[in-house]
Amino acid sequence: MSHPIAVFVSGTGRHLENFVRLALAGELDARVSLVLCDRAEAGAIERAQKYGLQPVTLLPADFENSEAFSRAAFDAAREAGAETILLAGFLRLLHIPADWTGRVLNIHPSLLPAFGGKGYYGHHVHEAVLQRGCTISGCTVHYVDQEYDHGRILVQRTVPVLQVDTPEDLATRVFDEELIAFPEALRLHMQALPAAHGAEKTSG
Ligand code: GAR
Repeated sequence: MSHPIAVFVSGTGRHLENFVRLALAGELDARVSLVLCDRAEAGAIERAQKYGLQPVTLLPADFENSEAFSRAAFDAAREAGAETILLAGFLRLLHIPADWTGRVLNIHPSLLPAFGGKGYYGHHVHEAVLQRGCTISGCTVHYVDQEYDHGRILVQRTVPVLQVDTPEDLATRVFDEELIAFPEALRLHMQALPAAHGAEKTSG
């Protein structure tokens, strides 16, 4: 029986597409039971529809505060029967309820704990990496806790940073690794269920 996953998106949905394709190709024992989007104009919506998925769009402005938004998002995941939530370019801080601890994974385009936290997303990360003169960068998939980019790390992959790199060059090189890292982390997580749930409860 394939694992039901919810994919939360704010952006273009390239990770979402990667998961759908891998599942369709039988390379990932998972099926997308929910796509949740927090931006009406996100490219991910059209991309999801291409695969017959109808995203649930929750707009933060329609909620009293971030707690109420989070509650609605996790309710949608429960209703869809999701076992695991993947934050695939989802840029909003969520309040993780107890029953989802150890079941929410995030991908971040740097080697955490460097260049993580509020304000570090997308191109901002790669600009900061270049400005600092780093010679390596990469991506991290980690469990999500109540802080931005903070929970226990599942997978990291590295790339070289070249002196001639633009932020776009670096983003492309890192993203190629992201497409490997996120499914790899999901596989590890699924293999470890429900042990991963217990492990996360003890982490920072
Ligand atoms: C990815 O590069 C992901 O690492 C990044 O957003 C992009 C989403 O791409 N996430 C963050 O920066 C989170 N802090 P996508 O919308 O095309 O899948």
